[in-house]
Amino acid sequence: MKKNFQKFYSKKKILITGHTGFKGAWLTTVLLRNKAKIIGISKDIPTNPSLYKILRLEKKIKDYRFDLSNFEKLKKVLISEKPDVIFHLAAQAIVSKSYKDPKKTWSSNLISSLNLFEILRKIKKNCLVVIITSDKCYLNIEKKTGYKEGDRLGGNDHYSASKACTEILFNSYFKSNLYKNLKLRIVTARAGNVIGGGDWADDRLIPDCVSKWSKNKIIKIRNPNSTRPWQHVLEAIYGYLSLAIELQNNKKINGLSFNFGPSERRSKPVKNILNEFKKSWKKIKWKYEKTFSFTETNSLRLNSKLSKKLLNWECKLTFSEMISLVSNWYLIYYKKKNNDLFQFTNNQIDKFEKIFFKR
Ligand SMILES: NC(=O)c1ccc[n+]([C@@H]2O[C@H](COP(=O)([O-])OP(=O)(O)OC[C@H]3O[C@@H](n4cnc5c(N)ncnc54)[C@H](O)[C@@H]3O)[C@@H](O)[C@H]2O)c1
Repeated sequence: MKKNFQKFYSKKKILITGHTGFKGAWLTTVLLRNKAKIIGISKDIPTNPSLYKILRLEKKIKDYRFDLSNFEKLKKVLISEKPDVIFHLAAQAIVSKSYKDPKKTWSSNLISSLNLFEILRKIKKNCLVVIITSDKCYLNIEKKTGYKEGDRLGGNDHYSASKACTEILFNSYFKSNLYKNLKLRIVTARAGNVIGGGDWADDRLIPDCVSKWSKNKIIKIRNPNSTRPWQHVLEAIYGYLSLAIELQNNKKINGLSFNFGPSERRSKPVKNILNEFKKSWKKIKWKYEKTFSFTETNSLRLNSKLSKKLLNWECKLTFSEMISLVSNWYLIYYKKKNNDLFQFTNNQIDKFEKIFFKR
């Protein structure tokens, strides 16, 4: 299976939108190992520190910087670069920010996707496209079993609603126009919360924790019993990569959507993550405190049986293996003893691949 990955991605031209973000930087690193040629489009570097900068990825790829709401610029890049595969990750990805700046969230999440679909109608070279939305695209009715791909879409905050609308937009574009373009194959991917080294986004659990703990401060936890389908960022990334390969091999999946989440027993409350982190970060402290009040749902689980059946994809890391990868990455970063974080990150990918391809 590993050989299939290398064979498929080697020398392919891959366009990643949102390449400077957390997932984009991991995806770029994995694809560089497979000798792909990467083109990135992002409007900015969303955090400081930034994984993209730490890994010095700008030197290893072709880096475009503009807002995807600019239709003409996007069209020009797509026409001139002619990518073999597109992973569309760019988005305003933070729920709390969507309350503060709804317009920017809708523009980044929906208008950018609209521009991309419109341009893809007329592409003339074979192209595989994976549109990254989110588990939050489902109407959350606090269901105890996992959401399936056919379940009702919805969202009570701008981020979730914009992801649900991206799915609806995708469906109408596919069924009305895109299916006619025989050069194009396109799917959407809905993953749950991901964690991994190098994330510093606001209002996300791990970045908030490590930023405090690295300064010996106490982290205030909004909801220690909140359950999320946690998965390591590499699990989702290898899901997206497997999906593009399958899209090439199996035209029947053209136009479908796929969930990528851990099994139900791996959906754990926040407090379990903190306790697991304590095994390597000995001195960490946290306390419960109700802070900034935006509506958060208590549980959200995904049913990923379709990905298991058609892509043979499932989360392979155990809960402790996942947390150990995350905590070790940040330990190394904050100790500043290991300057070659690109190598260290690649070592983590090696470890992950041994489990992903063999377990
Ligand atoms: N991180 C998670 O836990 C998670 C979970 C589910 C889904 N997702 C989805 O995965 C994708 C990547 O998430 P992330 O955590 O890496 O986000 P991130 O905030 O780290 O990065 C976002 C990226 O998108 C780019 N971007 C944003 N708006 C843009 C615009 N208008 N034009 C061009 N570029 C723009 C930013 O420059 C950045 O490169 C997003 O679509 C997000 O909704 C993330």
